Amino acid sequence: MTPIPQDPAYSRLKSQLIEQTGLAFYADRDEALAGTIGERLLILGLHDCSSYIEFLTAESGTAEMEILIAKLTIGETYFFRDERQFTAIRDHILPEILKRNHSSKHLRIWSAGCATGAEPYSLAILLMRELADQISGWRVEIHATDLNRNYLAQAAMGKFRAWALRSTSDEVKGECFFHEGLVWTIDPRFKQWISFRHMNLVESEFITPFPSGTHFDLILCRNVMIYFTQEVSRRLVDQFHGSLCDGGWLVVGASEYSLVNEKDFSVVDASGAKVYRKVPPLLEISGEILQIKGKAPRPATTFPPHDVPPANSPPARDCGNLDALRQLADRGDWQNAAECSLRLLTRDRLNPEIHFYRGLILENLGNAGESERSLRQAIYLDRNFGLAHYHLALALKRDGRIEAAGRSFGNVLKIMAATPDLASVMAAPGVTAIELKELAKMHLKETRES
Ligand SMILES: C[S@@+](CC[C@H](N)C(=O)[O-])C[C@H]1O[C@@H](n2cnc3c(N)ncnc32)[C@H](O)[C@@H]1O
Repeated sequence: MTPIPQDPAYSRLKSQLIEQTGLAFYADRDEALAGTIGERLLILGLHDCSSYIEFLTAESGTAEMEILIAKLTIGETYFFRDERQFTAIRDHILPEILKRNHSSKHLRIWSAGCATGAEPYSLAILLMRELADQISGWRVEIHATDLNRNYLAQAAMGKFRAWALRSTSDEVKGECFFHEGLVWTIDPRFKQWISFRHMNLVESEFITPFPSGTHFDLILCRNVMIYFTQEVSRRLVDQFHGSLCDGGWLVVGASEYSLVNEKDFSVVDASGAKVYRKVPPLLEISGEILQIKGKAPRPATTFPPHDVPPANSPPARDCGNLDALRQLADRGDWQNAAECSLRLLTRDRLNPEIHFYRGLILENLGNAGESERSLRQAIYLDRNFGLAHYHLALALKRDGRIEAAGRSFGNVLKIMAATPDLASVMAAPGVTAIELKELAKMHLKETRES
């Protein structure tokens, strides 16, 4: 048998698979893709890619396509992935929706690309544990969709390994799961609002499996588009825009922000996470002005403070360590965060993470020069600090220093090359190495094209 990548029909098969699934991720991963195809040919007793294409396109090919999808999709997920985003959902997004839908008492959420279900279940846990009083008597719908039917079947069972609960507190584990041996089973009461359905997000018609006219208050599509081309992702974001009600919210993965066309959404920095809202610019809500990126002086992306500051946020004087600094930054308390970073630096001036956070904080305070200096300091102290290189590259790109930005994005790729794809990135909870690499690659391409 000809080695798969040299098979004359391989590139046609690859293009078809990418087109059907959106998984452009495989465009430059021939080893992985050819390995999977080779395995299937062997099992099916087929000799080349052309006969495999024929098999896939025949009537009987549907089941084989499902098997292939199960092998090609990457379902990395865990409960409360990206704490900042869940804090933003709890402290800003849900309270806003509950206020807005007060009279209809109807809440509609869509978790698009839900994998084995940790994301929709995290939302159900959050709603039931923390907002139970406010949603009593409400109709709550959490629609969870995915391309991989195996993941959906697992999700419906609600059984998880400890690894999926690595960011879940012992208190939540104890209250919301039954634990037996290696398996954690979600308490069935967290299933009542969730419906799991199959859906391919890149099908051109984008026929939603929801009743016609359904408009969502909140759509989460996190760590899914990172595997697609920019073109497909942008089209998808447009479609999400159309599926949101006015004032509805879109949450994408932290490494997917650049895929959202900010002209169509209001960009809100809530609890250190960037979230998107379908509202006209400078919408006034309950007498508070949401400051829209690019429309107001910096700090332009700060969400108005929530009525009650999160209980676990330290006041400025309580700034003992990096965690306290992170919490201040998460809560968007940039001024106190800046003071806190200085205080920490007087005690630990060689700590690259403090310099890195100071860089992000100063950027949010509009001090681009000092921000860049801090990021460079972080890199000086740890040359392998991929995320610091990445943020420096973004700052250079924003400033129009395209060549230097390109070099810095290149550095990210060099540094991250040896890091396993699913490893977490230093200083970026919830972000995996593959996500950072893909993002750096995308920006690098943009800098080369500009
Ligand atoms: C990395 S997981 C993300 C899971 C979850 N959103 C999270 O952030 O933890 C990506 C998911 O996207 C799904 N996916 C990939 N291509 C898809 C497509 N064309 N339509 C729907 N889902 C897709 C995969 O099956 C996988 O479950």
